[in-house]
Amino acid sequence: MIVQSLVLKNFRNYGGLEFQPAPGLSVLFGPNGAGKTNILEALVVLALTRSNRAARDEELVSMGQEAYYLRTSIERSEGPGKVEVAWEKGRRKQFKCNGAVVPSAAGVVGRLLVVFFGPDELQIAKGAPAMRRRYLDIILSQVSPTYLHNLTQYARILGQRNKLLRSASEAGGVDLAHLKVWDDQLVEVGSWLVRRRAEAVARLADEARAAHAELASEKETLSVTYDPAVLRKAGGLATPSREEIRAAFFSELERLRPAELARGVSLAGPHRDDLLLGLNGADLRDFGSQGQTRTAALALKFAELSFLRQETGEEPVMLLDDVLSELDESRRQALAGLLEDDRRQAFVTTTDEAFLPATVAARSTYYRVGGGRLVQEE
Ligand SMILES: Nc1ncnc2c1ncn2[C@@H]1O[C@H](COP(=O)(O)OP(=O)(O)OP(=O)(O)O)[C@@H](O)[C@H]1O
Ligand SMILES: [Mg+2]
Repeated sequence: MIVQSLVLKNFRNYGGLEFQPAPGLSVLFGPNGAGKTNILEALVVLALTRSNRAARDEELVSMGQEAYYLRTSIERSEGPGKVEVAWEKGRRKQFKCNGAVVPSAAGVVGRLLVVFFGPDELQIAKGAPAMRRRYLDIILSQVSPTYLHNLTQYARILGQRNKLLRSASEAGGVDLAHLKVWDDQLVEVGSWLVRRRAEAVARLADEARAAHAELASEKETLSVTYDPAVLRKAGGLATPSREEIRAAFFSELERLRPAELARGVSLAGPHRDDLLLGLNGADLRDFGSQGQTRTAALALKFAELSFLRQETGEEPVMLLDDVLSELDESRRQALAGLLEDDRRQAFVTTTDEAFLPATVAARSTYYRVGGGRLVQEE
């Protein structure tokens, strides 16, 4: 998949930018604060309908403006496509695919496939469980509109259920029939998510192990295991059926009810899932060195790339934000190896071109970023 053009209007520090990137590797360079990451962020918003670093669109719109607009033309194996995102203060975000209005994010996500890799992603092995859930959710949302739809539903149900629990804990009692309505919905949608995550992790784990074996200098084996919260008490199951998940979910709700009512928050469900990462059987979070956790992070990113490719038959666009400078020479070379594939488009940001390995530098197109513009260097 190739991004052929990108248009930004009143997005971050760009009043109006039209960019026709190279089909291979584009290097965006410039000093801190020049607007390099903002370009990648625009691609992320077009791919996922929301930013990976700002929770609110108010942060994305150029200061003093009321609306922003993004557009991209992409070449996919099945032909050309166009995605547009328009946001205006106080209104719902609008999406268009190939010129036609699409009512929800689930209709847009997956058109432009991206793998984003920045300094935060390097922390995935050691960071909070939310980072690993996000990793899974972004992968699965890009290959399955149903997943994104159910994820959105789940968040809505969870919010409603938490509201009820909160008011119950304040009032000192709950309407059990009312709670049961939310329990049933939470379990129905939540079990679907758990099942889909379990299937995906089984395959991601294979990919990550293989990638890791190539990356690691020592003889170490990376294991990636799904840790669904509702099955933790049962000691986990490698491939739980939908029925097993549902039963475990209900019994967890039963077990945790007093605590939920006391604390006024939902304690069981896929919003508390995690991925367990192990190296030769030892938990990476507790025992991993900085180098080991970075290699694991890189392996997870490689796994993401091949998973997306296998599921969609398309080559995702790689977005590498300042990450080359964070890696040591051997890991940098491994990542650079991915960028040497001519079928793969990539955008790399850096303050210092010296971080680019020579093999990559030779086949890159360079753009100097600054003053709300990109200028191609000869
Ligand atoms: N909503 C906004 N409106 C206008 N300008 C903004 C907005 N949000 C951020 N900026 C500007 O964008 C710039 C930061 O852009 P960006 O994060 O892309 O920089 P960068 O080139 O990636 O820098 P670094 O090398 O430090 O990562 C800052 O100058 C900031 O003031
Ligand atoms: Mg940046």
